[in-house]
Amino acid sequence: MSPEEFRKHGHDFVDWMADYLASVEDYSVRSQAAPGDIIATLPATAPQNPEPMADIFADFQRDVMPGITHWQHPSFFAYFPANSSPPSVLAEMLTSTLAAQCMLWQTSPAGTEMETRMMEWLRDMLSLPSDFQGVIHDSATSATLAALLVARERATGWRGNEEGLAALGAEGIMLAVYVSEEAHSSIEKTMKVAGYGKAALRKIETDDEFAMQPEALSAAIEADIAAGFTPACVTASLGGTGTGAVDPLRAVGEICDGYGIWLHVDAAWAGSALIVPEERGMLDGIEFADSFVFNPHKWLLTNFDCTAFFVRDAQALERTLSLVPEYLRSRETGAVIDYQNWSVPLGRRFRALKLWFVIRSYGVAGLQEMIRAHIALARGLFEEVSGESAFEIMSPLRLALFSFRFHPANVDDEAALDALNEELLQKLNDSGELYLTQNRVRGRYAIRFSIGQTGTQKAHVEAAWAKIRDVAASLK
Ligand SMILES: Cc1ncc(COP(=O)(O)O)c(C=O)c1O
Repeated sequence: MSPEEFRKHGHDFVDWMADYLASVEDYSVRSQAAPGDIIATLPATAPQNPEPMADIFADFQRDVMPGITHWQHPSFFAYFPANSSPPSVLAEMLTSTLAAQCMLWQTSPAGTEMETRMMEWLRDMLSLPSDFQGVIHDSATSATLAALLVARERATGWRGNEEGLAALGAEGIMLAVYVSEEAHSSIEKTMKVAGYGKAALRKIETDDEFAMQPEALSAAIEADIAAGFTPACVTASLGGTGTGAVDPLRAVGEICDGYGIWLHVDAAWAGSALIVPEERGMLDGIEFADSFVFNPHKWLLTNFDCTAFFVRDAQALERTLSLVPEYLRSRETGAVIDYQNWSVPLGRRFRALKLWFVIRSYGVAGLQEMIRAHIALARGLFEEVSGESAFEIMSPLRLALFSFRFHPANVDDEAALDALNEELLQKLNDSGELYLTQNRVRGRYAIRFSIGQTGTQKAHVEAAWAKIRDVAASLK
């Protein structure tokens, strides 16, 4: 494709992108495609000869778009948001065009130095400790994997990487990791990948607010030590996925400090809310944390993927992940940061650029305004649902998340309530007017309501609540 052709298609695509963002509300939020619908439109074999861009783009609109769930739709209330913004998209266009691979300082000094500065900006915007150093990962899962690997190395005197866990196991060295029952599944997954094994995971009981019980954590650690285990890591959640649970960081941190256990904080979603001072209460005790992760790609107007991972001891992270064969040496090796030594993958995109665009375009004040607006919308809806006798709150409001269920007066059987709410959720999502997802709260089916899309306004939340009541009434 010649530069002139690229220019023409680029302009056409930007027109389409602007129209899409302006009219995203006209789409069904959740794709209404059935399994197999999209693959049926794609030829079984690759084309032998070049095809015109006009044909490819027409097929994209006709065949691909029906298979898109519209995460940027203002009535997207499912999972956690992955909100984006025009400045972020524009930055991604530049990143794609440069297509720089920023594994080393030398392979794009701006990529590295921009990343260092953006991590400092974010650290200070969230009011994290000033000795934290940050690095951008693709996902919170990857960042948590890195944290668990450093914790593993520290707990084994740096022998895990060298000798392998099997050798340590033969000597009777057995590790243990602690999370609350509400912790995200990524911790269990990364434990499997990091070689701890699922059996090393201890799920600590939670209190009425779904927060980890420090006494239960202490008891589990004591029991493990007595049984010959080495406690390696505690992961505290700030804003758990199911119920938005917030673990008591100070109490958990003091315990970790006492035993010398690595404390990792998973604030994947709620971390963005820390840019507003009134939500920083949950950071009390952060001085005990060894690492902290949050996703600007969830709630900070920055396109997926962009995860901010902070560590207090960056040397420990490097010691765990650094491997520099001759072909990765450069003249500056050792004198600069080569971020390939701070994450599992070698290759890395220039992700910091979109943060720079977003933070400058909105300013901290603009981002704070967005967070506050979403929290206020969620509070308003939470109060409405709480006041409706046919609905029951299943988990309390945390920032912009709560969960509820439809509970008509004549139904008391728990299994029947689960089935009723599952039916309600499917009918709502099949309508295409909004998108919600579910959770189990103390074993019972609950519908989560999570607000955080860039364009979500009061009218969208009111329309969603009206729809929920209408569909629920039709099920009685
Ligand atoms: C609390 C929490 N931790 C971790 C994750 C995993 O995030 P990622 O998709 O970036 O790996 C999520 C995802 O929603 C989450 O909510």
